[in-house]
Amino acid sequence: MKQLKVLSVFGTRPEAIKMAPLIKKLDQQPQIKSNVCVTAQHREMLDQVLKIFSITPDYDLNIMKEKQTLNTITTEILVGLEKVLDESKPDVVLVHGDTSTTLAAALAAFYKKIPVGHIEAGLRTNDKYSPYPEEMNRTLVSNIADLHFAPTPKNKENLYKEGIKTNVYVTGNTVIDALQHTVDKKYNFNNKKLRDINFSQKRSLLLTAHRRENLGKPLTNICNAVNKLVREFFDIQFIIPVHLNPAVQRTIGSILRETPRVHLIDPLDVQDMHNLMDRSYLIMTDSGGLQEEAPSLGKPVLVLREETERPEAVEAGTVRLIGHNERKVCEVASDILSNINKYNAMSKSINPYGDGQASQRIVQALLDRYFNNKINNFKDYIRAI
Ligand code: UD1
Ligand code: UDP
Repeated sequence: MKQLKVLSVFGTRPEAIKMAPLIKKLDQQPQIKSNVCVTAQHREMLDQVLKIFSITPDYDLNIMKEKQTLNTITTEILVGLEKVLDESKPDVVLVHGDTSTTLAAALAAFYKKIPVGHIEAGLRTNDKYSPYPEEMNRTLVSNIADLHFAPTPKNKENLYKEGIKTNVYVTGNTVIDALQHTVDKKYNFNNKKLRDINFSQKRSLLLTAHRRENLGKPLTNICNAVNKLVREFFDIQFIIPVHLNPAVQRTIGSILRETPRVHLIDPLDVQDMHNLMDRSYLIMTDSGGLQEEAPSLGKPVLVLREETERPEAVEAGTVRLIGHNERKVCEVASDILSNINKYNAMSKSINPYGDGQASQRIVQALLDRYFNNKINNFKDYIRAI
């Protein structure tokens, strides 16, 4: 039997978390030969995910450097992937989302005239500098890709508006596939610091921030707001898994290291993270992934950004865009912490980003495209969300 050779390329934590459920489905499909290449744009934070999902890459470009720039990441991946593509000769290359790995891998495949499938396609803010460089990365990849796996109908509409109308599949976001297997009410944390935190005596606020456009003053403002909030509310504690970017570590460490009821912890493995989200009262973040996961768990989110490419949960009322002005962050968080009706209104469990079947739909779409298998449930799904 001829098998379809699929090479999945990813390099950062969120790409790995969102590609992992798909890799598992590809592995189960006898008509597909699945290979994995990691760029290791992230190292420790990528390896955490590979370990949790028991994924052993076939190729590892191992490119991460402490002071990597957009240019060095991109060029090293272009050079490294040339050899991998020559050796593995895939029929299709799958990339995910909007990172430098995503763009460089799509471009490398295009240079070899290998078709590209883009997972998490069609997210847009329509501001090319925000998020930077992600908005431009994903827009360019849409122009390179041959197959577009859009999480939501809105994402599909965005592609249509740009003239991308063929081979666009609405699948849901694979991050919801992952979430279904990780959360457990009786879960024991792997991270020792988390095991020592008392979740029943205080309301726990989970905070993450890492975006390039938030580095410097915005992140300083956010940390100052945290200091004020813990002084104002004696029944709250912040839990902050700090991204390994040295610029993030420096700012958060210097402002919050000594603050009582602020727990600074290392990046968590994804099982710990999802269960921490589930035990949190409120989530404050600039992360894309958290904005998708939290609504599914019924957790309110304050987004520490001026815009979002994920408007669905904002429209549903469970996510609020509040930016990074110190006074605004304090005001909005205080209001929600003090007003249970407002809090409850934001705590509905909704699933605008997926139903846990996205990976299966992507595999079906690949089989349909390459073997003419019949796709049976795309239309139903589009109606369902
Ligand atoms: C990258 C992505 C961003 C994504 C984020 C997820 C780009 C341009 N940016 O941003 O879209 O939201 O990942 O977290 O693709 N580091 C480590 N160990 C790790 C990971 C990072 O030490 O495991 C440090 C390194 O010093 C590295 C720095 O963090 O140089 C920045 O990493 P980089 O991938 O360039 O940027 P992120 O801000 O992580
Ligand atoms: N995450 C994790 N450990 C952490 C912080 C985040 O596993 O300490 C997960 C989170 O649940 C989500 C993904 O990483 O699935 C989001 O990654 P990140 O915030 O780094 O990137 P973004 O989504 O903003 O691109």
